[in-house]
Amino acid sequence: MRRSLQASRLTCVHCSDCCTGLKQRARTAAKPRAQRLRHALTAALALLSALSCYYAFSTCKPKPEAQLMLDGGAALEGRAQGGIYVWDPAVEMPGLPPCDHEDPTSLAPIVKHLVLRRFPKLAECHEEYQYASAWYLERALLRAHAQLARSVDSADAVLIASSCYYEAAFWSRLFTMFPPEELERLKLEMGLAADPERLMSGILDLVPAYVPPEKAVLFFPAPYNAGCNGTHKWMARARTFAGEKQASCGPAERTTVVPFNGNSPDVPAEVSFDNRTILATYIGGGDGAEHRSAGQRLRHYVTQQLANDSDAFMQGTCQGCPGQLSHAQAMHIYQTSTFCLVLAGDAPSSRRATEVVLHGCLPVYVGPPYNSAPFGSVLDYSKFSLVVHVNDTSGWVSTPTHQRQADRWTSEAGPPTHTIADMSQLLPALRSVSPERVREMQAALQRVRRAFLWKSVLSPEQPAAADVALRLILPSYQLDTSQLLA
Ligand SMILES: *[C@@H]1O[C@H](CO)[C@@H](O)[C@H](O)[C@H]1NC(C)=O
Ligand SMILES: *[C@@H]1O[C@H](CO)[C@@H](O)[C@H](O)[C@H]1NC(C)=O
Ligand SMILES: *[C@@H]1O[C@H](CO)[C@@H](O)[C@H](O)[C@H]1NC(C)=O
Ligand SMILES: *[C@@H]1O[C@H](CO)[C@@H](O)[C@H](O)[C@H]1NC(C)=O
Repeated sequence: MRRSLQASRLTCVHCSDCCTGLKQRARTAAKPRAQRLRHALTAALALLSALSCYYAFSTCKPKPEAQLMLDGGAALEGRAQGGIYVWDPAVEMPGLPPCDHEDPTSLAPIVKHLVLRRFPKLAECHEEYQYASAWYLERALLRAHAQLARSVDSADAVLIASSCYYEAAFWSRLFTMFPPEELERLKLEMGLAADPERLMSGILDLVPAYVPPEKAVLFFPAPYNAGCNGTHKWMARARTFAGEKQASCGPAERTTVVPFNGNSPDVPAEVSFDNRTILATYIGGGDGAEHRSAGQRLRHYVTQQLANDSDAFMQGTCQGCPGQLSHAQAMHIYQTSTFCLVLAGDAPSSRRATEVVLHGCLPVYVGPPYNSAPFGSVLDYSKFSLVVHVNDTSGWVSTPTHQRQADRWTSEAGPPTHTIADMSQLLPALRSVSPERVREMQAALQRVRRAFLWKSVLSPEQPAAADVALRLILPSYQLDTSQLLA
């Protein structure tokens, strides 16, 4: 059904999964030259980074009291025993270039600034960046004086606060889409000497020299593919927060899938369940090409199949294509829908899984393959979501790669609540949920909703994402779970 929406203010532009196709094309086009340069650069930077690692190894000493020197040097006590130590590479490793999202002259802001020369659409504020989840947790912990440990030795757990370097590395992957000469010129102009990927890798190489791996807590909002093997083998012993299981090198029992950051000015303080006139909504990418992932093809298939249904709002256009809704318009539609489809794409995770909950829309996981379920190991998804298993996957699973994705991206929101023969049965299945059941689910959604909200301050009496995450690593951290887990 087409709805006319009032043109609302465009607050942020998001890079959805649709850009991936664009990126891949650009990457393919730029490959031969970029590759030559990359090899030369890699060799030069390997040397540089080996030197800086050597420097860091030989001169740096852990500075356990550093984080407690707040407010003009007034030393705070910190906990003598237990608690969490926030291990900030910029503080602990002398010689590292500074990285701070609030300092425009430091690493990640420079990298982002450079990338924006070609990708101006990525210019959203950091608070609204989908991978800012790790940054929110770091900030919340630095303000949580009562939970902070005085030293690595006395701490129960040590958060490796590398989100800034991680993001610099992540953004720098877009460098391959610049013509080599332009990239070199911009790097010089902006004073970017280091290779962010190597810096991040160097940090991870050094962590075990300071922090026992079993105490370390890592946070990878998206896959960090420098490898779980090789020099980073220790990461398999750490506890890991990750945007999706695939982003963790840790064992399943010590990996927690956490929400992407869905903060935007459109997130209401309280959601209303009145006036939800649309039965089911899906808004997002949907490229059905054979070479795309099973998830991307599933999105395309669903939007095609349900396009003519007057109960459903389906939009599967790509980023920047004609008719694409603004982010604010999409959020408004979530606020007027009862069910929102959460579908895997090129990856088994998406910001959508967070956004639909923040806007009061009941998530419906459709697969296989399935999108990941944030805090699926902690929250009882059966109370506020549906999992629809479709028997006939022939519309989107047609190659061995698709089949592997369908086999591996399993449901994290629990066993199927519905099994249907084919996609034509999806809306009938949703219509068959009684109004009483919908109201119960909405009441449950209202209770868990805050667990999907990243805030930069802890609030144990009304737990949000950072509180739930901290509770998982610090059993002594008391929070009111009566609402969340009810
Ligand atoms: C890491 O090594 C193990 C065994 O040594 C192997 O099974 C696994 O596939 C490797 N993982 C990656 C990402 O290369
Ligand atoms: C729901 O719609 C009614 C009638 O249009 C309106 O008066 C009311 O304010 C709406 N409620 C919300 C929460 O938007
Ligand atoms: C939707 O409607 C269009 C135009 O009437 C038609 O061509 C198309 O086959 C329909 N799609 C489905 C899935 O019924
Ligand atoms: C789905 O497949 C299973 C296993 O083949 C079968 O038992 C079940 O009846 C099917 N359900 C529907 C609705 O087709």
